[in-house]
Amino acid sequence: MSEEKFKKIISHAKEYGFIFQSSDIYDGLSAVYDYGQNGVHLKNNIKDYWWKSMVQLNDNIVGIDSAIFSHPTTWKSSGHLDAFNDPLIDNKDSKKRYRADNLIEDFIQKIENKLIKELNKQKKRFGVKFDEKTFLSTNERALKYTNQIDELKSRFKKALNNDNLSELKNIISDNNIICPVSGSSNWTDVKQFNLMFKTQVGASKESSSDLYLRPETAQGIFLNYLNVQKTGRMKIPFGIAQIGKAFRNEIVARQFIFRMREFEQMEMQFFIKPGEQKKWYEYWKENRMKWHLSLGIKGDNYKFHDHEKLAHYADAACDIEFNFPFGFKELEGIHSRTNFDLSNHEKFSSKQIKYFDPLDQSKYTPYVVETSIGLDRMFLAIFSNSLITEKLDGGSERIVLKIPKILAPNKCAILPLVKKDGLSEYANNIKDKLKIKFKLTYDEKDAIGRRYRRQDALGTPYCITIDHQSIEDNTVTVRERDSMKQERIKVDLIEEFLVKSLDISNWLQ
Ligand code: GAP
Repeated sequence: MSEEKFKKIISHAKEYGFIFQSSDIYDGLSAVYDYGQNGVHLKNNIKDYWWKSMVQLNDNIVGIDSAIFSHPTTWKSSGHLDAFNDPLIDNKDSKKRYRADNLIEDFIQKIENKLIKELNKQKKRFGVKFDEKTFLSTNERALKYTNQIDELKSRFKKALNNDNLSELKNIISDNNIICPVSGSSNWTDVKQFNLMFKTQVGASKESSSDLYLRPETAQGIFLNYLNVQKTGRMKIPFGIAQIGKAFRNEIVARQFIFRMREFEQMEMQFFIKPGEQKKWYEYWKENRMKWHLSLGIKGDNYKFHDHEKLAHYADAACDIEFNFPFGFKELEGIHSRTNFDLSNHEKFSSKQIKYFDPLDQSKYTPYVVETSIGLDRMFLAIFSNSLITEKLDGGSERIVLKIPKILAPNKCAILPLVKKDGLSEYANNIKDKLKIKFKLTYDEKDAIGRRYRRQDALGTPYCITIDHQSIEDNTVTVRERDSMKQERIKVDLIEEFLVKSLDISNWLQ
């Protein structure tokens, strides 16, 4: 997708009240965004869809809402104080700061794009006769690209796993990776940068102590593991889910709401018996992919990607990547976190965090498989995938936001054809009856065609139009967003129609 298209997505989000740059009257605050009058509903609907699938549909998963602040030792135990770093590098000419790993990843991506371009060219040339496997193993240029990608990936992986910062710098120099702003390869050394925001609690300097804004919601779950297990009489395997804000002092904040400094996560920690982590890791990988697909977005927009470098707590980890406007990038992480967190909290707090298994009388520190998805990234995935410009018969165009209906900010729009002749009153009556069950909108300004276009751009699945015939025979027109088909139904049947069409079980089952 072109940069042009991405710009359109960002301006559509602003124009229609989905997302605003934070503090924009002061020229904005970088990598912080506010959700507007329509965005807040799309966001809440995504949360609700996730929460229901986790907490309501799983008998053994419960939810909590823990505080953003926690005891500062939390971050020592979790490893975030020592190891939650990104490798940063500065370009001496442009004075711009980058993540060294991102520079290398982008470089690899460029070579991959060249290879894909070459493949597409040959596919077009030879059509159905084209044999991709033979081409990749014999064509000189394809072989050159493939070898270059493999070599770079393995060198990069090794450098990351050994925390070898000078090797990261070497990879950048050896491949003559340049700064996109200055075009120069005049780089500083690579340094580690801790991503946690620090603040203080207490009135005076002497009595105050350092606090951190949580960089992940997961630690609030670990800190409450014993509370929930005991008070909820939970038996392993069981999960604890949570939705909440997280904060990271990202070095390079870019790509709109993809990488923010304040964002929201939807996380679930699944506590299991040691030794069963492989089974549950596979289970949650499959389960989470099914959740994504249940929303009806085409499957080829998602793929699994195994981590090049495992986080300090993990023995296996992968991402579900989504085809964002700027390519495939991480949408959700699935991590087998071993007992790293619980056993460290046990050590640093000197409290026993063990589970007594009544089935085999064993006592152990549970292992954890985690699913962690960024709510804002999910929003961007849905929003960017749904925004479509459609050619209509007669040559005109319409912009339509084909959001999965279950997530749409408004489920329907009530539109009296004209304001006079009692149509407004009739339409208002319908609105008042429906609004207790559905979030809807009412509009009586402008010609009906313009109003349809506006609802299309907002992603409203149904427009209900009230005309003169409605007053005579109590029927209305229902227009469906995607097909633009219209049907006449009895006023008394609108509620049933909407309930049926928007029933969550149509999606989640
Ligand atoms: N508890 C594990 C954890 O936090 P992560 O891969 O660092 O793992 C999980 O983050 C998810 O949070 C990511 O897949 C992404 O969707 C989201 N996320 C992470 N950093 C983000 C940022 N700066 N802005 C928006 N979303 C972010």
